[in-house]
Amino acid sequence: MTSSEIRSRFLAFFEKRGHAILPSASLITTDDPKATNATLFNTAGMQPLVPFLMGETHPEGSRLASSQKCVRTGDLEEVGDNTHATFFEMLGNWSLGDYFKEDAIAWSWEFLTSHDEGLGLDPNRLYVTVFAGNDAVPRDDEAVAIWKQFIPEHRIYYRDSKDNWWTAGPNSPAGPSTEMFYDLTGTLGDLSPEGFEQADEEQKLVEIWNDVFMAYRQEGGEVVGELPKKNVDTGAGLERVTAVMQGTTNIFDTDLYRPLIEMIKEHASTYNDTDARIVADHIKTAVFLINDGVVISNTGRGYVLRRILRRAYHSLESMGCSEKIVPQLIHIVIDMYRELYFKDVNEKQIAIKVKIVATEMDKIIKIIKRGVAIFKKIKDDPRATITGQFLMDLEQTHGLPLAISQKLAAQFGITISEEAIKDCERLREEHQALSRKGAEQKFKGGLEKDTEKIRALHTATHLMLAGLRKELGPDVHQKGSNITEERSRFDFTYGEKVEREALDKVEAYVNDAIATNAKMGVQMMDKDEAKNSDVVGSFWEKYPDTVKVWTISDKAGNIYSRELCGGPHVNELSEIAKFGTFKITKEESSSAGVRRIKAILE
Ligand code: SER
Repeated sequence: MTSSEIRSRFLAFFEKRGHAILPSASLITTDDPKATNATLFNTAGMQPLVPFLMGETHPEGSRLASSQKCVRTGDLEEVGDNTHATFFEMLGNWSLGDYFKEDAIAWSWEFLTSHDEGLGLDPNRLYVTVFAGNDAVPRDDEAVAIWKQFIPEHRIYYRDSKDNWWTAGPNSPAGPSTEMFYDLTGTLGDLSPEGFEQADEEQKLVEIWNDVFMAYRQEGGEVVGELPKKNVDTGAGLERVTAVMQGTTNIFDTDLYRPLIEMIKEHASTYNDTDARIVADHIKTAVFLINDGVVISNTGRGYVLRRILRRAYHSLESMGCSEKIVPQLIHIVIDMYRELYFKDVNEKQIAIKVKIVATEMDKIIKIIKRGVAIFKKIKDDPRATITGQFLMDLEQTHGLPLAISQKLAAQFGITISEEAIKDCERLREEHQALSRKGAEQKFKGGLEKDTEKIRALHTATHLMLAGLRKELGPDVHQKGSNITEERSRFDFTYGEKVEREALDKVEAYVNDAIATNAKMGVQMMDKDEAKNSDVVGSFWEKYPDTVKVWTISDKAGNIYSRELCGGPHVNELSEIAKFGTFKITKEESSSAGVRRIKAILE
């Protein structure tokens, strides 16, 4: 079965069972750090859904399914083994307070084993694990009871929270999980708990699906209570499932990588599997990142892109393979996923992506030349020692990744201590944590912090923009906004002074809406679709392909405001009313063609 057939079978299976099929969200996490726990990229299918798993109403309903693009860079060093990749797609189905363990497990089993609608896997090659329990949450005997309808009890194993507990971060929904494993060898048969662990370690087994019963709320990494609704969050890695279906022992022998690996093999003078897999994976990831708008840089997402391209170059070089094949690899990636993700990408746009990668490759060639000079000097200096800080400086200042420094050191017969390597990795993590924090700050979208009052002013500011556009016309656009506990400061395009009379009308518009206690709803929308609708927005280019649209409407369906925004907002407008009435206290010129308003709640 081809990977695309697996993907479509999965989505069709869940669509038939009442699930709305969501398009993959952008790899880039949304601008709301609360919603994403501030990871740089979507790392699981559930990630774009966190606000809904926490209780917000999803416009598509309570049963959802998708195939989500994901990038994980935590296991970067493991890429090249049988199962790790930085880019992958996750198939998932969700229940937002709808069905729970019974249906989730039954459908997982049915999809895995049914020949008609599913994958038709041999039940005798499947094993499952369930949560063993801890101080806060009991052993998942409910899941065991359900599983026993499908699988003999001795093929159900218990694992602790290291393996069978899922959360998207310290402050997020969480719950015990049950994982499904497949015997890649076809020879394992019944396994004792020890035998099961060993087979897993030896990669004779592969985990193919994880059902999370997301019923708990975590704060600061501790379970603090149950969620208002019990959710199901499942995830199956498409690459691994494809490996199982195509009878290969590793993901790189599947149709999701084979054309890339073959091309590399053809051009490598000293081919090896590990480096070829690194190149295939990293180039694929780079294409997807660039396509979702990541720009090469020394911090945050741009730094991840830079690092993986440098690692890709390094692996090409190790195989004696010219970097000149990279444009062909990029074309292969785009062709492979064209239908799904690159439908509108034309030749000119491909050429731009190729150029971005080629420029970076040229840079790394220069850097390596510089690195050679640096290590040569160290070799000639008997007093030189290599510290973690020195290695980190090479990365930061000279752009020389640790892996390449290690390789160059080896070439010159210089030893780098384990301690220095660990120090360098620690320093890098610290640096990344700092830049992540910086990014979070930036993404707060003009809100000083996230408090009830600031949310109230933020939602009121949406109403004000709608009111301004109603009074002054559709040429009014937001230019900037800054909201503190005291006031909302708002810049917008307009050529002349706004009369007090008009400001009064805008105030009334906002206060009338608040008085109806209209609701604030949020919806994920395809960016182009939103752009071509009545959604108001500025800075579209800063948003990913899937955007958050906030709509304020009353029971009768009157829409007061519909705007593109990362959040956060109040849920209903009574949360604004409790801070008082909305007042515009000042209107002045900000710069040519831009006016500035200050408004308060009092
Ligand atoms: N969130 C879980 C995972 O990533 C299930 O989707 O495995």
